Amino acid sequence: MKRALEHRYYVYTSMTALLIYRRCCTRDSVAILGGPDYRVLLGIRDARTASRDAANNNLPAPFFNFSQLLSNFQAHELNLKDLVAPSGGHTLGFAKCATFRNRINNDTNINPKFAASLRASVCPASGGDNNLQPFDATSARFDSVYYQALLKKKGLLHSDQELFKGNGSRSDRLVQR
Ligand code: HEM
Repeated sequence: MKRALEHRYYVYTSMTALLIYRRCCTRDSVAILGGPDYRVLLGIRDARTASRDAANNNLPAPFFNFSQLLSNFQAHELNLKDLVAPSGGHTLGFAKCATFRNRINNDTNINPKFAASLRASVCPASGGDNNLQPFDATSARFDSVYYQALLKKKGLLHSDQELFKGNGSRSDRLVQR
């Protein structure tokens, strides 16, 4: 993106400037889609290098279980709240069939009707890997419907549902808030 912008507008920009710009765009999008307004902090340290591999290796996967998710976040000095609250980011947007096929076919912690309807519509046993499914029923609204879906075992990704298992854990209680 940095290269594309520089090419198009004949300017040099820093990753820091782009990341700050992105924070502001996110804040505005969240407000437009019905979410809360919040202050954006503009300070950030520019990196000396960038690594696609490092970024990909550090991202949690949609098939991670609860302890894998938590360890991944803890490795970046983030705690359980930092895992559960930002996961509400899945109140917006879509995921590809390939990321939740295993869940709708093999998971037990899933509403059976929900799983069957996804298998019959967007995500067949084979093919359609790129078919998209909204994370929740109001995918263009910043609201709590994503968390409500978890309470009904209708989380789209395995990793989403791992945050709520209905066993009274601390994570369960954070989702219920
Ligand atoms: C907790 C671990 C997380 C996992 C395993 C995860 C996984 C994923 C996956 C697999 C997708 C779908 C990508 C695709 O099919 O191409 C996705 C999309 C998305 N994620 Fe996450 N995510 C996580 C955390 C977060 C957090 C913390 C946020 C926001 C603060 C977030 C915001 C989003 C959004 C907005 C989309 C939709 C993108 C779109 O529709 O273009 N995710 N995530």
